[in-house]
Formats: sequence, C-alpha cells, structure tokens
Amino acid sequence: MLSVAVWCRHEKDCIIGIGPKIPWFIKSDLQRFRRITSGASIVAGQTTYESFPNRTLPNRKIYVLTFDKNYKVSDENNHFVINDLTQLPKDAEVVYICGGASVYKAFMKSGLVDVVVDSCYHGKLDESLVGNPVDIHECIDIMNQNYEKISKDYLEDDVTTAIFVKKGIKISDNLLEHLNISIFNVK
Ligand SMILES: NC(=O)c1ccc[n+]([C@@H]2O[C@H](COP(=O)([O-])OP(=O)(O)OC[C@H]3O[C@@H](n4cnc5c(N)ncnc54)[C@H](OP(=O)(O)O)[C@@H]3O)[C@@H](O)[C@H]2O)c1
Repeated sequence: MLSVAVWCRHEKDCIIGIGPKIPWFIKSDLQRFRRITSGASIVAGQTTYESFPNRTLPNRKIYVLTFDKNYKVSDENNHFVINDLTQLPKDAEVVYICGGASVYKAFMKSGLVDVVVDSCYHGKLDESLVGNPVDIHECIDIMNQNYEKISKDYLEDDVTTAIFVKKGIKISDNLLEHLNISIFNVK
C-alpha cells in the first residue's frame, strides 16, 4: 500500500487552516482534490472529518483518526474509526492522507508518506475567520529534505501544484497516470 498526502498550504507561512476552516475558497482546488480521491480510501483527523458537510464525502471510504475509541461516524458502512496510524486498510493499493495538520504531521514524521501532492496557494487568507492559524511547516521541511519533485509545477487559479516522491520509492505507472490526469489533466 502506498500513502499519498494531499494538501493545499499558504505559500508564505504554510498555513492550512484557521480554527476548523480552510481560509480560502478555490473551486478548482476542491475539484482537483475530488478527482484525486474519488473512489478511494482516505484518512482524515476527527476535526477535519467534522468539517466535511454532514461529516461525509461522497464516493470515498473515510478512515477517521481519533484517540476516542467510542467515536461514532456518520455512515457506518463507509466510514471507519482508527485509533493509530497502523490501522489502515491492508488491501487498498493507495490511501490518501487528507489532513488536518496533526494527521499530516503524524504521518510525515513517522516516515509513512510515500507521495505528496503539494498545492501552494498564493493569494490572501480570509482574515474574517475566528480561531488559531494551523500550519504544517514541519511537513514542508520534511518534504524538502526527504522527497524529490517528479513533476512540473501546474498553476491554476492562484494555486501551484506539484508531485513529490520520497527518495528511493518507486511508484507505479498507474498511480502516476492517475495523479497526472487528476492534477494536470495530462494523459
Ligand atoms: N488546506 C488543507 O489542505 C487542509 C486539509 C485538511 C484540513 N485542513 C485544516 O486543518 C485544520 C484541522 O487540523 P487539526 O490538526 O486541528 O485537526 P485534525 O488533524 O483534522 O484532527 C485532529 C484529530 O486527530 C486525532 N489524531 C491526530 N493524530 C492522531 C494519532 N496519531 N492517533 C490518533 N488520533 C490522532 C486528534 O486526537 P486528539 O484531539 O485526542 O489529539 C484529533 O481528534 C482545520 O483548519 C482544517 O480546515 C486543511
């Protein structure tokens, strides 16, 4: 199983959220996220899971990472509680790590991320949001040190996206093709 982290961070400060919300709205970025993860298994921390509309994302299996062993998901057929990083589906070819910050950090620091789809937002943050800024600069440091960029930059609507692969890891042609089509619309 390969794990692929997918995030969109602010370019200057690596902020990915303010309080429970993402401080920008870029439709094409959400569409890209949907194309990448549709039909697949994803991991989300409890806070991020609760920020999904009705605590769900259609057409995906969601593994909710929480320390709460009694946590109740919104859809028992498609959503699963996991209490540590090792409880991922063994049969899935790829699992997408979808945040938030504590989840990206836990996976990146444990060396459990093979591929990063790194999107970088160049615009302004929505300053009207209430809450503490949440950043992933530690993950970006790890990415810059231990991963190599294997794609060009793709700029769309103020967001630049590129694919990084952990040094020494070989990813399948199928996965690369899927990411290329989803991100860059290249066949
Ligand atoms: N821009 C993006 O790409 C993007 C994507 C997703 C989310 N976000 C943003 O990220 C922010 C949320 O991040 P967050 O860090 O506050 O919350 P989070 O990572 O979504 O969720 C935190 C939850 O995960 C649990 N958890 C974390 N590591 C764990 C582990 N190793 N084992 C078991 N449980 C674990 C925590 O338990 P405890 O509470 O017990 O510690 C907590 O319940 C929001 O602002 C959201 O909008 C941004």
